[in-house]
Amino acid sequence: MPGSPRTKLTVLLAAFAAAGGLWAPTGAAATEKTAETATAGKPAHRVTYDRYSMMVDGRRVLLWSGEFHYFRLPSPDLWRDVLEKIKAAGFNGVSLYFHWGYHSPAPGVYDFTGVRDVDRLLRMTEEAGLYVVARPGPYINAETTGGGFPAWLKNVPGRARSSDPGYTRAYREWLSHINPIIARHQLTRGGSVIAYNAENEYAANTDAAYMQDVQKQARAAGIDVPITHNQCCDASWTPTWASGQGAVQIPGVDDYPQAFECREPDVWGTWGEGVTERLSDDAPVYAAEYQAGAIDGNKAGCEGCRELTGPNFMKVYYKSNLITSGATMFGYYMSFGGTNWGRLAQPNDVYTSYDYGAAITENRQLTGKYDEFKRQGLFTTTVAPLTKTDPAAAPSSDDAAVHTEARANPDTRTQFVLVRHPDRKTDADASADLTWNAPDGTYKVPVRVKGRDAKVLVAGYDMGGQRLAVSSSELLTHTTAGGRDVAVLYGTEDVPGMTVLRYTSKPTVKVLDGDVRSTYDGNGNLQLDYDHRGLARVLITGGGRRPLLLLLGTEAEAAKFWKSGDLLVRGGTLVRSAKITGNTVHLRADTDRATDVEVFTNASRMTVNGAPVPTRNTSDRTVIGRVPGPAKVRLPELTGWRTASEAPEAAPGFDDRTWTVADRTTTVSPIKPKTLPVLYADDYGYHHGHVWYRGRFTATGEESEVRLNAITGKGGIYQVWLNGRYLGSAAGGEQKDSDAPINPDPGPGNFTVPSGLLKKGETAVLSVLVENMGHNDDWTAEDTRQKQPRGLVGASVAGAGPIAWKIQGTAKTDRVRGPLNNGGLYGERTGRHLPGFADRSWTPASPAARQVGPGVTWFRSGFRLDLPKGHDVPLTLRFGGGNGAEHRVLIYVNGWNLGEYVTGGPQRDFTLPAGILRQRGANTLALAVVAEGQATVGPISLNAVAAHRGGVPVNDVPSPGRTS
Ligand code: GAL
Repeated sequence: MPGSPRTKLTVLLAAFAAAGGLWAPTGAAATEKTAETATAGKPAHRVTYDRYSMMVDGRRVLLWSGEFHYFRLPSPDLWRDVLEKIKAAGFNGVSLYFHWGYHSPAPGVYDFTGVRDVDRLLRMTEEAGLYVVARPGPYINAETTGGGFPAWLKNVPGRARSSDPGYTRAYREWLSHINPIIARHQLTRGGSVIAYNAENEYAANTDAAYMQDVQKQARAAGIDVPITHNQCCDASWTPTWASGQGAVQIPGVDDYPQAFECREPDVWGTWGEGVTERLSDDAPVYAAEYQAGAIDGNKAGCEGCRELTGPNFMKVYYKSNLITSGATMFGYYMSFGGTNWGRLAQPNDVYTSYDYGAAITENRQLTGKYDEFKRQGLFTTTVAPLTKTDPAAAPSSDDAAVHTEARANPDTRTQFVLVRHPDRKTDADASADLTWNAPDGTYKVPVRVKGRDAKVLVAGYDMGGQRLAVSSSELLTHTTAGGRDVAVLYGTEDVPGMTVLRYTSKPTVKVLDGDVRSTYDGNGNLQLDYDHRGLARVLITGGGRRPLLLLLGTEAEAAKFWKSGDLLVRGGTLVRSAKITGNTVHLRADTDRATDVEVFTNASRMTVNGAPVPTRNTSDRTVIGRVPGPAKVRLPELTGWRTASEAPEAAPGFDDRTWTVADRTTTVSPIKPKTLPVLYADDYGYHHGHVWYRGRFTATGEESEVRLNAITGKGGIYQVWLNGRYLGSAAGGEQKDSDAPINPDPGPGNFTVPSGLLKKGETAVLSVLVENMGHNDDWTAEDTRQKQPRGLVGASVAGAGPIAWKIQGTAKTDRVRGPLNNGGLYGERTGRHLPGFADRSWTPASPAARQVGPGVTWFRSGFRLDLPKGHDVPLTLRFGGGNGAEHRVLIYVNGWNLGEYVTGGPQRDFTLPAGILRQRGANTLALAVVAEGQATVGPISLNAVAAHRGGVPVNDVPSPGRTS
C-alpha cells in the first residue's frame, strides 16, 4: 500500500534534472511519474518511498541486500554464481560499489570490458531478480587501493572529495562514464537499480557543494531513482545529509557494532548497540552498511572474523536492529568479500584475501552465517506487514531476564515482538511467560532464550489463507501451492514451542510426522504444542480455511529450506532456482553428496540441472528427487618447474636508456620529499606494483652510507644494491596512517657502503627496488592520506655528490587484465608472468628444492586440469611454508596476479577462480619470489576446497600471452 499523500515522496522527474534542477524532498504531495523509456522493452517500474519503506509500483518493499564487489572476483560468470547464492539466501537486493580506479588507468581512459563489464553485471542482477543499490562513489573506501580512487588522481592538484576544480574535472569524468550505465539499468527503465548511493561515509572535512554536485551529475545522466547516502558510524557524525545543501532523499547509516578485532571473536558490541538511527522523517530508516563480517586488520585470519560476526551475533544484532529501529532498508557488508587480486588491496587493513568472514566465503562456499541470513531473509522478504511498522506495546514478560520490544503494522495490526536477553552479550539460559495482547486476543506465551540469541515472534498475521494468532516459534516463510498453504516455523533445538491459529470451526489436525499436540478451545483458537526437534509435519484441514501443511523444525531444519518464487524446496547444498512446468519440477541445484531434495508441490517428475532424477511422491503431497553427488576430482601435482633469477637492474652495466629520467623538483603531493629530485613513482606515471630506481653518481671514494626513505604502504619492503652488490632490505613505511601526524622519517633504511666497493672518479650505480603495496584511502577526506607518495621519498649517499636518477615501473598497462595486474619487475616487463613465455632455457627446479638469493627469482610451471563438467570445484594454491629469509611471492595464473604470499602472513591458501583457471585445459603458473636473503619457498600444491555437482557454466576469461 502506498503511503499517505502527505508523506508520499516521489522520484525526481528526469526532465527537471536534465534542466539542471536538483531534487529536494518536499514532504508535500507530488505527482508520481513513471519513466517512459524501459530497457529492451522490459516493463518500467515506479520507485517511490515514504517514511516507512521504499515502494515499487506502489507495493512496499523491505530491501534486504548484501554487499558484493564485482572487482574482487575477476571472472564474470562467477558473478552469476555469487548473485544466485545471494538470492537463494533470501536477499532481494545487492549493494554494489563501482570502483573508479579499477576502470581507469589514466585520465580520460576508461574500460568497461571483460572483467570490468559492469553492464553485464547489472544484466545479471536483473536475471537473478535482485534489486541493486548502485554505489559509484566517486569515493568508496572498501579497503581497496586509494579507496577506489584511480592512482593518477594523486597527480591532480586540489583536495579530493571537495569542489576543488581539479578534482571536480576528474570525478565528473568518472561519473560521466559510470552514470549512464547505471541509469539504463534502473527499475524505472525495466532494470534492477532501485537506489543510487552518492559518495561514501562523507562525514569529515565535507563540502556540501561537492555533495550536491555528485547528485546533480547523477540526475543529469538520467538517474531518477532515490538517491541515498551511507552516513559514517552513527548520526553523531555530521552532516548526515538528511537536510540542507547536498541532502539526499534517503539518508542511511553504517553500523559496525562488533568493530574489527577478529582475534577476539567473543568480545561483542565494541562499537555499541548497532541500532540504526532514523535520519529523516520523510524517508525509511536505512541500515546502509550493516556489519556482516570484518576487516582482518590484525591478521587473525578470516575464520576469526566469521566467528566475531557469526550466527549468534546476527540473531542478536540484526533482529534487535530490525525491531528497535524499524529499518526497512538494509545493506549487509559483505555478503561475499572476494579477493584483492592484483594490487586491489589498501595495505593498512587487508591482504590478498578479502574473505571478510562473510556468509559466502572467498571460495564461494556457504557457511553457518549463510544459513542465518536465509532464516532471516526469507522471513523479512515474505512477511509484508514488516514493511510498515510503528513502535508498539510489547508483551509483558514475567521474568526480567527476558526482554521484549515490539512493533506493529498500523494497517494490519500485525505485531512483531523481539525477545532477547536485556544484556545482549550474556549467554544465559532464560525463560519467561509473556502476556501478549495480540490482535486476536490475549495469550500466555512461554518463551526461552538459550545463550546468545534473539527471536522475532509474530502475532496477528494473515499467513496466506491462514490466520497466525501468535507463536513462540519464528516464522521462516510460507507459500501457497496446489490449493493449500505451506508454512515453516522454527525454534531452538529441544526448546518447547506453541503456535495458535484461528479458525471459524474446529479443524481436523493430522500429525504426519513428529510429536505435536493440538487443542481447540471452541473460541476459534487452535493451539499446537511441541518441542523443536527435527522437522514435524502437521496437516490441518477444515475449520473454514483452505488446508495448511505446517512444518515445525529446529533452526538447522529451517536452514534446509529454499524458496524460489512460490516453490518451497528442502535439501541440497544450494537450490538456485525452482520452477514447475506441467507435472515436472525443474531445479537448478548444487550438491556436495548424493541427497534427497523435496519440493512442496504435487508434481511427479523432477529434473536437476536439466537431467531427470528418480522421484517418489510422499503421502503429504510433496515430491522427493534423488540427486546425485559430485564425481571424483583428481588434481595434478605441480611438476615441471623451471626457474630463473632476475634483477639485472642491479648490475651496473644494465641498459636503462629507455627508462624515465627522474628529475622533477616539484610535486602535486601535499607531502614534500626529503631530498630532490622528486622520486615519487606516481609522479612519473608508475602507479602499481614494484618500481626500480637506478641512481648514478661519480664516486668520491669517501662514501660511507646509503640513506634512503621509501613509502611502500604497510607491509612492503625495499631492497638496495650498489654496483651490483646487495646491501640489504628495509621495511617501507608510510607517511601518514589514520589520524597520526605526518611521519617525517618514513621507511628509513641506512646501508653501509662496503669499503673498497666504490673507486674515486668512477661511475657508481645505486639500484633500488621498491614495492608498492597499494594506495592509502581517504576516508576522512583529508587528501594527505590518499596522496601520500609511493617509492623513494628521500635518497642520498653520505660522502657522494649529486645522483642522477632513472625510474622504471609497469612497462605497459595490460589491456585485458587492467592497470592493477602487474608492476615493474623485470619479469613483469618482459612477460615472464604470461602464458606462452619461452622458459625452456630456464633451469629445471621446483620452489621446494631451490634456494633463492636476495632479489627476484621466477618459477614457472604448467598444469592441465580436467575437472568434471557440470561441477563447481573451487581450487586454491597452497603454500606449505618455506624457510630461510623473509620472502614474498607474487602469484600469476595465466598471467593474472592472484595475490601475494608473504612469509609470516595469515594467508597460505590463494583462491584461483574458475574462468581465470582453465577448468579443462592447460594453465600457466608463474611465481615471482622476492626474497630478502637466502630462502626456500617450500612446497606448493593445488587444493580443492570443495566439489559440487552443479555450479554455473564458467567460460574461460581471456588470458592473452601478450596484449597490445
Ligand atoms: C565502511 C566503509 C566501507 C568499508 C567498511 C569496513 O566504513 O563505508 O567501504 O570500508 O567500512 O569494511
